[in-house]
Amino acid sequence: MKVLVLYTTVDGNTEAVANAIAEKTGADVSKIVRVNKRHAYGIDWLRLWFEVTFKRHPGIFPFKHDPRDYDLVFIGTPVWFNRYNPAFDTLFQVIKIYDRKIALFSTGATDKQKALDKLSKKLQDSVILGRYHCIEPIFEDDEESTKKILDEAAEWAQGIADTAAKMIEEEECERRKTIF
Ligand SMILES: Cc1cc2nc3c(=O)[nH]c(=O)nc-3n(C[C@H](O)[C@H](O)[C@H](O)COP(=O)(O)O)c2cc1C
Repeated sequence: MKVLVLYTTVDGNTEAVANAIAEKTGADVSKIVRVNKRHAYGIDWLRLWFEVTFKRHPGIFPFKHDPRDYDLVFIGTPVWFNRYNPAFDTLFQVIKIYDRKIALFSTGATDKQKALDKLSKKLQDSVILGRYHCIEPIFEDDEESTKKILDEAAEWAQGIADTAAKMIEEEECERRKTIF
């Protein structure tokens, strides 16, 4: 089974979760990188608010792996103003993701999951196998707390990967039945 982790990040929290998931599941990893780098403070904060509120699509660099080539895709986003990161809207404009097995994850300052609700809606033509949200793992005060969150994310991802593998096996059985 081919597994991909597709994510974007500014401060590294979502990246830490993405890497934990990839390490546990043996997935390939693709980071979506904005053409215009933005910071999470100052005038850039206002620019980002504008971008999210008025649904602007920021430019992104080409990324390594095409999600349509994968059986299971983990998609990870930081929560921005209760939405998913707008870099994904740019991506969805270029690449139509449908009929895939998808699992979503997000990191945020709070436990609100509105970004995942919106991302689920956007990807409703695929099978969403699960969602995972956590609070800023790398901003924790000690390494142990960070590790605990990342381990939990990795366990969740392994469960998703196991479910996806089982589904693929069952689909293959059904396909063979229709051939013979
Ligand atoms: C522009 C901006 C808007 C944000 N809006 C929210 C928000 O609405 N809700 C929330 O819980 N966290 C919000 N945050 C906090 C981030 O979601 C959180 O720090 C996340 O872990 C950042 O991910 P990253 O380190 O991968 O960039 C916001 C951060 C930024 C930079």
